[in-house]
Amino acid sequence: MTTTVAEPAIRVQGIEKSYKELHVLRGVDFEVAPGSIFALLGSNGAGKTTIVRILSTLLRPDAGTANVHGSDVTRDPGGVRDSISLTGQFAAVDEILSGRENLVLVAKLRHLKNPGRIADDLLAQFNLTEAGSRRAATYSGGMRRRLDIAMSLIGQPKVIFLDEPTTGLDPEARIEVWQVVQKLATSGTTVLLTTQYLDEAEQLADRIAILHQGRIIANGTLAELKQLLPPAEVEYVEKQPTLEEIFLALVGDKS
Ligand SMILES: Nc1ncnc2c1ncn2[C@@H]1O[C@H](COP(=O)(O)OP(=O)(O)OP(=O)(O)O)[C@@H](O)[C@H]1O
Ligand SMILES: [Mg+2]
Repeated sequence: MTTTVAEPAIRVQGIEKSYKELHVLRGVDFEVAPGSIFALLGSNGAGKTTIVRILSTLLRPDAGTANVHGSDVTRDPGGVRDSISLTGQFAAVDEILSGRENLVLVAKLRHLKNPGRIADDLLAQFNLTEAGSRRAATYSGGMRRRLDIAMSLIGQPKVIFLDEPTTGLDPEARIEVWQVVQKLATSGTTVLLTTQYLDEAEQLADRIAILHQGRIIANGTLAELKQLLPPAEVEYVEKQPTLEEIFLALVGDKS
């Protein structure tokens, strides 16, 4: 048996991107290990969606390189697209179709055999079997998000990008999405997610990176990030800083 050192599933080096005068990304570097969950944190407008769009080949970087599952996003965007799926910040389900029809449509677009069975399996996996024949327009936010994520799993992508997967969901629906994401990583899928919810990153992510003023200003496990700040002194217990405190200390006031 040979052992191989796992190449990163995602490698980002020196990525820069401007929109006209607005220099959004100023040299972004990070790596994501295969089968891990990587959370990208940042304030509104920090450039999280911009990074996701570059990694999913929807947008070309101005400088730097990014490699996803062995393919370069600018030199081999087709190779990247073959191994990824993207669940965007805004749900991409077709409201006129039923949940099941949405899934069948994607399976057909991906030229898979047995689209009906694929759809039924995913409906079951995401607790949507009963709602499957209903128009997606009638779904709650949580159901729509689950359907959206289910659609993005068709074809078993190696790397999945989730841009704010739980924004706008109630606590229960968020936990359902977290369970789905955790299951994905357990099965070997690499997950890069962006989030505004610091507890989401604390719960889910193997590594957390903070994007601020165009650069990654912190990147590590939760335990490593906690070491960036001294534990607060309290009378009886030693209080560990929360990720929220670390985030705010690093990012500073947003004024
Ligand atoms: N197509 C575009 N043209 C001009 N400016 C853009 C464009 N897309 C994004 N921007 C700007 O780039 C910056 C980064 O946007 P981006 O959507 O990547 O941020 P974000 O971190 O995803 O924010 P949010 O948390 O609000 O989703 C913002 O200031 C935004 O207004
Ligand atoms: Mg965004």
